[in-house]
Amino acid sequence: MGRKVILDVDPGIDDAIAIILACNSPEIEILGVTTVAGNVSIEKATRNALRILEYVGCSHIPVYPGISKPIYGELHTIESIHGENGLGDVGLPDPNTSPRERHAVDFLREIVASEKPGEITLVATGPLTNVATALLLDPSIARRLSSIISMGGAFGTNLYGCGNQTPRAEFNVATDPVAAKLVYQSGAELYLFGLDVTMRPDVSIKGDLYRRLGSSGSRCGELVYRMLHRFIDMFGSATIHDPIALSYVLRPHLFDFREAYVDVEICGDVTRGETVADLRDWLPPNLKKPPNAKICIDLKAKELLDFIFSRIILK
Ligand code: BDR
Ligand code: CA
Repeated sequence: MGRKVILDVDPGIDDAIAIILACNSPEIEILGVTTVAGNVSIEKATRNALRILEYVGCSHIPVYPGISKPIYGELHTIESIHGENGLGDVGLPDPNTSPRERHAVDFLREIVASEKPGEITLVATGPLTNVATALLLDPSIARRLSSIISMGGAFGTNLYGCGNQTPRAEFNVATDPVAAKLVYQSGAELYLFGLDVTMRPDVSIKGDLYRRLGSSGSRCGELVYRMLHRFIDMFGSATIHDPIALSYVLRPHLFDFREAYVDVEICGDVTRGETVADLRDWLPPNLKKPPNAKICIDLKAKELLDFIFSRIILK
Protein backbone atom coordinates (compact mmCIF):
# COMPACT_ATOMS: atom_id res chain seq x y z
CA MET A 1 0.00 0.00 0.00
CA GLY A 2 1.14 3.53 -0.78
CA ARG A 3 1.31 6.70 1.19
CA LYS A 4 -1.69 7.30 3.44
CA VAL A 5 -3.71 10.37 2.56
CA ILE A 6 -6.77 12.15 3.89
CA LEU A 7 -8.62 14.51 1.56
CA ASP A 8 -10.38 17.49 3.17
CA VAL A 9 -12.56 18.96 0.41
CA ASP A 10 -15.48 21.24 -0.50
CA PRO A 11 -16.55 19.85 -3.90
CA GLY A 12 -16.66 22.08 -6.00
CA ILE A 13 -15.60 21.24 -9.55
CA ASP A 14 -11.83 21.22 -9.00
CA ASP A 15 -12.15 19.38 -5.66
CA ALA A 16 -14.11 16.74 -7.56
CA ILE A 17 -11.26 16.48 -10.07
CA ALA A 18 -8.78 16.17 -7.19
CA ILE A 19 -10.82 13.27 -5.79
CA ILE A 20 -10.80 11.59 -9.21
CA LEU A 21 -7.05 12.10 -9.50
CA ALA A 22 -6.49 10.62 -6.05
CA CYS A 23 -8.73 7.63 -6.74
CA ASN A 24 -6.90 6.95 -10.02
CA SER A 25 -3.50 7.00 -8.31
CA PRO A 26 -2.32 3.63 -7.02
CA GLU A 27 0.61 5.15 -5.12
CA ILE A 28 -1.69 6.51 -2.42
CA GLU A 29 -4.17 5.00 -0.02
CA ILE A 30 -7.10 7.31 0.72
CA LEU A 31 -8.01 6.75 4.38
CA GLY A 32 -11.05 8.98 4.19
CA VAL A 33 -12.62 12.05 2.67
CA THR A 34 -13.70 14.82 5.04
CA THR A 35 -15.95 17.59 3.79
CA VAL A 36 -16.14 21.24 4.70
CA ALA A 37 -18.42 24.10 3.74
CA GLY A 38 -16.91 26.44 1.18
CA ASN A 39 -17.73 26.37 -2.50
CA VAL A 40 -21.11 24.96 -1.49
CA SER A 41 -22.93 24.07 1.72
CA ILE A 42 -21.73 21.14 3.81
CA GLU A 43 -24.74 19.09 2.63
CA LYS A 44 -23.94 19.63 -1.05
CA ALA A 45 -20.19 19.13 -0.51
CA THR A 46 -20.81 15.82 1.27
CA ARG A 47 -23.29 14.61 -1.35
CA ASN A 48 -20.87 15.55 -4.12
CA ALA A 49 -17.97 13.71 -2.48
CA LEU A 50 -20.11 10.58 -2.27
CA ARG A 51 -21.28 10.97 -5.86
CA ILE A 52 -17.78 11.34 -7.25
CA LEU A 53 -16.40 8.41 -5.24
CA GLU A 54 -19.24 6.26 -6.49
CA TYR A 55 -18.70 7.39 -10.08
CA VAL A 56 -15.04 6.35 -9.97
CA GLY A 57 -15.83 3.03 -8.29
CA CYS A 58 -14.42 4.03 -4.89
CA SER A 59 -17.55 4.14 -2.77
CA HIS A 60 -15.73 2.02 -0.18
CA ILE A 61 -13.79 5.17 0.83
CA PRO A 62 -15.57 6.67 3.86
CA VAL A 63 -16.87 10.24 3.76
CA TYR A 64 -17.09 12.22 7.00
CA PRO A 65 -19.16 15.43 7.00
CA GLY A 66 -17.42 18.36 8.63
CA ILE A 67 -18.11 21.89 9.76
CA SER A 68 -20.88 23.87 8.09
CA LYS A 69 -19.57 27.43 8.58
CA PRO A 70 -16.35 29.35 9.11
CA ILE A 71 -14.94 29.66 12.62
CA TYR A 72 -15.75 33.37 12.49
CA GLY A 73 -17.98 35.09 9.96
CA GLU A 74 -20.65 34.07 7.51
CA LEU A 75 -20.37 31.42 4.83
CA HIS A 76 -20.68 32.78 1.28
CA THR A 77 -20.92 29.86 -1.11
CA ILE A 78 -20.10 30.33 -4.78
CA GLU A 79 -22.62 28.40 -6.83
CA SER A 80 -22.13 31.29 -9.27
CA ILE A 81 -18.78 29.68 -10.10
CA HIS A 82 -19.29 25.96 -9.44
CA GLY A 83 -22.95 25.66 -10.50
CA GLU A 84 -26.08 25.17 -8.42
CA ASN A 85 -25.14 21.58 -7.56
CA GLY A 86 -21.43 22.44 -7.13
CA LEU A 87 -20.38 20.15 -9.98
CA GLY A 88 -20.92 22.47 -12.91
CA ASP A 89 -24.58 21.41 -12.94
CA VAL A 90 -23.63 18.09 -14.45
CA GLY A 91 -26.40 15.69 -13.51
CA LEU A 92 -25.02 12.79 -11.50
CA PRO A 93 -27.31 10.32 -9.77
CA ASP A 94 -27.88 10.68 -6.04
CA PRO A 95 -25.33 8.55 -4.19
CA ASN A 96 -26.28 5.05 -3.07
CA THR A 97 -23.93 5.35 -0.13
CA SER A 98 -24.32 7.53 2.95
CA PRO A 99 -21.83 9.65 4.83
CA ARG A 100 -20.42 8.23 8.05
CA GLU A 101 -22.00 9.36 11.29
CA ARG A 102 -18.67 10.29 12.78
CA HIS A 103 -17.85 13.98 12.44
CA ALA A 104 -14.92 14.90 10.17
CA VAL A 105 -13.05 16.52 13.05
CA ASP A 106 -13.41 13.42 15.26
CA PHE A 107 -12.27 11.22 12.38
CA LEU A 108 -9.22 13.43 11.79
CA ARG A 109 -8.26 13.36 15.45
CA GLU A 110 -8.76 9.62 15.87
CA ILE A 111 -7.03 8.48 12.70
CA VAL A 112 -4.00 10.70 13.25
CA ALA A 113 -3.70 9.44 16.85
CA SER A 114 -4.02 5.82 15.78
CA GLU A 115 -1.37 5.83 13.03
CA LYS A 116 2.37 6.15 13.56
CA PRO A 117 3.68 9.75 13.47
CA GLY A 118 4.59 10.79 9.95
CA GLU A 119 2.31 8.22 8.32
CA ILE A 120 -0.50 10.47 7.14
CA THR A 121 -0.50 13.35 4.67
CA LEU A 122 -3.47 15.68 4.86
CA VAL A 123 -4.46 17.32 1.60
CA ALA A 124 -6.83 20.23 2.21
CA THR A 125 -8.43 21.84 -0.81
CA GLY A 126 -11.19 23.83 0.88
CA PRO A 127 -11.37 26.34 3.73
CA LEU A 128 -9.26 25.11 6.66
CA THR A 129 -12.13 25.03 9.19
CA ASN A 130 -12.00 21.28 9.95
CA VAL A 131 -8.22 21.21 10.07
CA ALA A 132 -7.95 24.21 12.41
CA THR A 133 -10.62 22.82 14.72
CA ALA A 134 -8.90 19.43 14.91
CA LEU A 135 -5.61 21.20 15.69
CA LEU A 136 -7.25 23.29 18.41
CA LEU A 137 -8.65 20.17 20.04
CA ASP A 138 -5.40 18.27 19.72
CA PRO A 139 -2.32 20.37 18.86
CA SER A 140 -0.17 17.20 18.65
CA ILE A 141 -1.80 16.51 15.27
CA ALA A 142 0.58 19.11 13.82
CA ARG A 143 3.67 16.98 14.47
CA ARG A 144 1.99 13.61 13.99
CA LEU A 145 1.01 14.44 10.40
CA SER A 146 3.68 13.96 7.77
CA SER A 147 2.55 17.26 6.25
CA ILE A 148 -0.42 19.40 5.38
CA ILE A 149 -0.74 20.16 1.69
CA SER A 150 -3.05 23.14 1.40
CA MET A 151 -4.54 24.76 -1.66
CA GLY A 152 -5.06 28.32 -0.58
CA GLY A 153 -3.66 31.79 -0.39
CA ALA A 154 -1.91 34.13 -2.78
CA PHE A 155 1.61 35.05 -1.83
CA GLY A 156 2.63 37.84 -4.15
CA THR A 157 5.56 35.97 -5.69
CA ASN A 158 4.38 36.79 -9.23
CA LEU A 159 1.56 38.63 -10.96
CA TYR A 160 -0.89 35.74 -10.41
CA GLY A 161 -0.31 35.79 -6.66
CA CYS A 162 -3.06 38.26 -5.80
CA GLY A 163 -6.63 37.42 -4.86
CA ASN A 164 -9.54 35.81 -6.66
CA GLN A 165 -12.37 36.18 -4.15
CA THR A 166 -11.28 39.78 -3.54
CA PRO A 167 -8.38 41.74 -5.07
CA ARG A 168 -6.21 40.52 -2.17
CA ALA A 169 -7.72 37.27 -0.88
CA GLU A 170 -7.93 33.77 -2.30
CA PHE A 171 -11.29 32.01 -1.82
CA ASN A 172 -10.36 29.23 0.66
CA VAL A 173 -8.53 31.61 2.99
CA ALA A 174 -11.08 34.40 2.45
CA THR A 175 -13.84 32.01 3.52
CA ASP A 176 -12.20 31.18 6.85
CA PRO A 177 -9.18 33.41 7.52
CA VAL A 178 -9.15 32.56 11.22
CA ALA A 179 -8.86 28.86 10.41
CA ALA A 180 -6.02 29.52 7.97
CA LYS A 181 -4.18 31.60 10.56
CA LEU A 182 -4.50 28.83 13.16
CA VAL A 183 -3.22 26.20 10.75
CA TYR A 184 -0.32 28.38 9.58
CA GLN A 185 0.69 28.89 13.22
CA SER A 186 0.24 25.26 14.23
CA GLY A 187 3.82 24.15 13.64
CA ALA A 188 2.77 21.53 11.07
CA GLU A 189 4.94 20.85 8.04
CA LEU A 190 3.04 23.06 5.60
CA TYR A 191 3.11 23.12 1.82
CA LEU A 192 1.04 25.98 0.44
CA PHE A 193 -0.22 26.01 -3.15
CA GLY A 194 -1.58 29.46 -3.81
CA LEU A 195 -2.86 31.33 -6.83
CA ASP A 196 0.76 32.25 -7.70
CA VAL A 197 1.02 28.81 -9.26
CA THR A 198 -2.54 27.54 -9.69
CA MET A 199 -3.69 30.58 -11.71
CA ARG A 200 -0.84 30.31 -14.18
CA PRO A 201 -2.27 30.06 -17.70
CA ASP A 202 0.20 27.30 -18.59
CA VAL A 203 -1.46 24.95 -16.06
CA SER A 204 -5.03 25.72 -17.08
CA ILE A 205 -7.04 23.35 -19.23
CA LYS A 206 -8.21 24.72 -22.54
CA GLY A 207 -8.28 24.17 -26.30
CA ASP A 208 -7.05 20.85 -27.55
CA LEU A 209 -6.35 19.43 -24.08
CA TYR A 210 -9.91 20.19 -23.05
CA ARG A 211 -11.34 18.61 -26.20
CA ARG A 212 -9.15 15.53 -25.72
CA LEU A 213 -10.76 14.96 -22.30
CA GLY A 214 -14.13 14.74 -24.04
CA SER A 215 -12.96 12.36 -26.74
CA SER A 216 -10.72 10.24 -24.50
CA GLY A 217 -13.26 7.42 -24.29
CA SER A 218 -12.72 7.35 -20.52
CA ARG A 219 -15.61 7.76 -18.06
CA CYS A 220 -13.61 10.08 -15.82
CA GLY A 221 -12.35 12.08 -18.81
CA GLU A 222 -15.91 12.53 -19.98
CA LEU A 223 -17.13 13.65 -16.55
CA VAL A 224 -14.29 16.15 -16.13
CA TYR A 225 -14.98 17.45 -19.65
CA ARG A 226 -18.62 18.04 -18.73
CA MET A 227 -17.85 19.65 -15.36
CA LEU A 228 -15.23 21.98 -16.82
CA HIS A 229 -17.57 23.13 -19.56
CA ARG A 230 -18.88 25.78 -17.17
CA PHE A 231 -15.40 27.25 -16.60
CA ILE A 232 -14.54 27.15 -20.31
CA ASP A 233 -17.81 28.95 -21.03
CA MET A 234 -17.25 31.59 -18.36
CA PHE A 235 -13.50 32.18 -18.61
CA GLY A 236 -12.31 30.59 -21.86
CA SER A 237 -10.08 28.22 -19.88
CA ALA A 238 -10.34 26.15 -16.71
CA THR A 239 -8.10 26.64 -13.67
CA ILE A 240 -7.67 23.42 -11.71
CA HIS A 241 -6.31 24.64 -8.36
CA ASP A 242 -7.05 21.56 -6.26
CA PRO A 243 -5.66 18.79 -8.49
CA ILE A 244 -2.46 20.81 -8.78
CA ALA A 245 -2.02 20.79 -5.00
CA LEU A 246 -2.84 17.09 -4.78
CA SER A 247 -0.31 16.30 -7.50
CA TYR A 248 2.49 17.31 -5.16
CA VAL A 249 1.88 14.10 -3.20
CA LEU A 250 2.21 12.09 -6.40
CA ARG A 251 4.91 13.96 -8.34
CA PRO A 252 6.87 16.15 -5.86
CA HIS A 253 9.77 16.70 -8.25
CA LEU A 254 7.54 18.85 -10.48
CA PHE A 255 7.35 21.65 -7.88
CA ASP A 256 9.69 24.30 -6.43
CA PHE A 257 9.24 26.03 -3.08
CA ARG A 258 10.59 28.79 -0.98
CA GLU A 259 10.34 28.94 2.76
CA ALA A 260 8.72 31.96 4.36
CA TYR A 261 6.90 33.17 7.40
CA VAL A 262 3.25 33.48 6.36
CA ASP A 263 0.41 35.12 8.23
CA VAL A 264 -3.22 35.94 7.47
CA GLU A 265 -5.07 39.22 7.68
CA ILE A 266 -8.21 38.44 9.66
CA CYS A 267 -9.81 41.81 10.23
CA GLY A 268 -8.81 44.11 7.36
CA ASP A 269 -11.63 46.15 5.93
CA VAL A 270 -10.44 45.63 2.39
CA THR A 271 -7.85 42.90 2.83
CA ARG A 272 -9.53 40.28 5.07
CA GLY A 273 -8.18 36.88 4.08
CA GLU A 274 -5.00 38.21 2.51
CA THR A 275 -2.06 35.86 3.03
CA VAL A 276 1.04 37.86 3.82
CA ALA A 277 4.33 36.10 3.14
CA ASP A 278 7.46 37.73 4.45
CA LEU A 279 9.67 37.65 1.37
CA ARG A 280 12.22 40.19 2.62
CA ASP A 281 15.40 38.31 1.81
CA TRP A 282 17.48 41.36 2.73
CA LEU A 283 16.34 41.31 6.37
CA PRO A 284 19.18 40.42 8.78
CA PRO A 285 18.63 36.93 10.25
CA ASN A 286 18.14 38.23 13.80
CA LEU A 287 15.14 40.29 12.61
CA LYS A 288 13.54 37.46 10.66
CA LYS A 289 10.73 35.29 11.98
CA PRO A 290 11.49 31.63 11.35
CA PRO A 291 9.63 30.26 8.33
CA ASN A 292 6.39 28.39 9.05
CA ALA A 293 5.59 27.24 5.51
CA LYS A 294 6.91 26.21 2.16
CA ILE A 295 5.25 28.25 -0.56
CA CYS A 296 5.07 26.74 -4.02
CA ILE A 297 6.64 29.28 -6.38
CA ASP A 298 7.16 27.30 -9.55
CA LEU A 299 6.18 24.10 -11.29
CA LYS A 300 6.95 22.16 -14.45
CA ALA A 301 3.74 23.08 -16.19
CA LYS A 302 3.73 20.79 -19.21
CA GLU A 303 4.76 17.66 -17.32
CA LEU A 304 2.23 18.44 -14.62
CA LEU A 305 -0.67 18.94 -17.03
CA ASP A 306 0.29 15.78 -18.96
CA PHE A 307 0.41 13.88 -15.67
CA ILE A 308 -2.98 15.15 -14.46
CA PHE A 309 -4.53 14.44 -17.85
CA SER A 310 -3.13 10.92 -17.99
CA ARG A 311 -4.44 10.11 -14.51
CA ILE A 312 -7.91 11.51 -15.16
CA ILE A 313 -8.38 9.40 -18.28
CA LEU A 314 -7.05 6.21 -16.64
CA LYS A 315 -10.58 4.98 -15.87
C1 BDR B 1 -10.08 27.51 -4.46
O1 BDR B 1 -11.39 28.03 -4.28
C2 BDR B 1 -12.34 27.10 -4.70
O2 BDR B 1 -13.35 27.72 -5.45
C3 BDR B 1 -11.62 26.02 -5.45
O3 BDR B 1 -12.24 24.77 -5.23
C4 BDR B 1 -10.22 26.08 -4.91
O4 BDR B 1 -10.05 25.20 -3.83
C5 BDR B 1 -9.32 28.41 -5.41
O5 BDR B 1 -9.28 29.71 -4.93
CA1 CA C 1 -11.73 23.58 -3.22
